Amino acid sequence: MRIIAKATDAAVWSAAMRREGRSIGFVPTMGALHQGHLTLVARAKAECDAVCVSIFVNPLQFNNPDDLRHYPRQLEQDRGLLTGAGCDMLFVPEEASIFQEHSPRLFDLGGQDNILEGPSRPGHFQGVVNVVERLFHYIRPDAAFFGEKDRQQLAVIQHVAHTLHWPERIVPCPTERAPDGLALSSRNLRLSPQERAVAPVLYQCLQSVAGSAFREPVTSAKEHGLRLLRAAPSIRLEYLEISDPLSLEPLVDWGDRTEAVALVAAWLGPVRLIDNVTLHKR
Ligand code: PAJ
Repeated sequence: MRIIAKATDAAVWSAAMRREGRSIGFVPTMGALHQGHLTLVARAKAECDAVCVSIFVNPLQFNNPDDLRHYPRQLEQDRGLLTGAGCDMLFVPEEASIFQEHSPRLFDLGGQDNILEGPSRPGHFQGVVNVVERLFHYIRPDAAFFGEKDRQQLAVIQHVAHTLHWPERIVPCPTERAPDGLALSSRNLRLSPQERAVAPVLYQCLQSVAGSAFREPVTSAKEHGLRLLRAAPSIRLEYLEISDPLSLEPLVDWGDRTEAVALVAAWLGPVRLIDNVTLHKR
């Protein structure tokens, strides 16, 4: 596996791949890799000839300096995991290298910054799109792989890619979970053993919403989930919403939809956890 730190060297690698006629699959990450990231890498390997993974803890997308400071960094371990996963190129840009000759732009996010994660994380999605645009600029992948775990991030990137006619194919990948249902996340490392034991209640809450989705009114489906969260010690709920699967706009009724999505965000100790599941009409 090649390791590249300079954005211009990454562009040279990418051009060499294209000259050899190899398609490029790209998995952008912030490191502290777990099985969730590795399934994205496996999918990229299955669909593309050469796989690039980036590790960059992007300061633009952290609205909370404490979160940025505490974000886990474990490059040596990540390197071992990626070698084992068959990654061809690991791109670990310095901040100055990735943002050279660049000042942050304001993207049209289709109103996504006003709902769900948006209001509690001002500037977050602009920061994500700015770094993804830079990474795409240097790597020029054929396909880029994103987890449904960060459903709104995926929706924002799909929106921008569509409206700006980005050539990259955006590939959504299912959420990987621990056996007890907790969605894998680098932030889980910061949970105490007691908090870790409580954390699966988020998934149980979503499952309970899914159990009554399309059978009961939206508010009562939501109420099933809320009841579980209220009973959990130390959970501080930010939101539980049932939303349109494309716009993620919260719903008040099911309308004639056959699909929706339930999304939850809650604090557990020092950690803000998010999760979501797709709801199907059966
Ligand atoms: P990060 O949180 O490291 O996640 C990198 C990718 O892994 C994202 O597409 C995320 O949705 C996916 N992922 C995380 N946990 C997952 C899980 N349990 N199952 C499946 N996929 C999972 O998301 C980011 O980094 C950043 O915002 C980034 C896109 C790299 C821009 O800085």
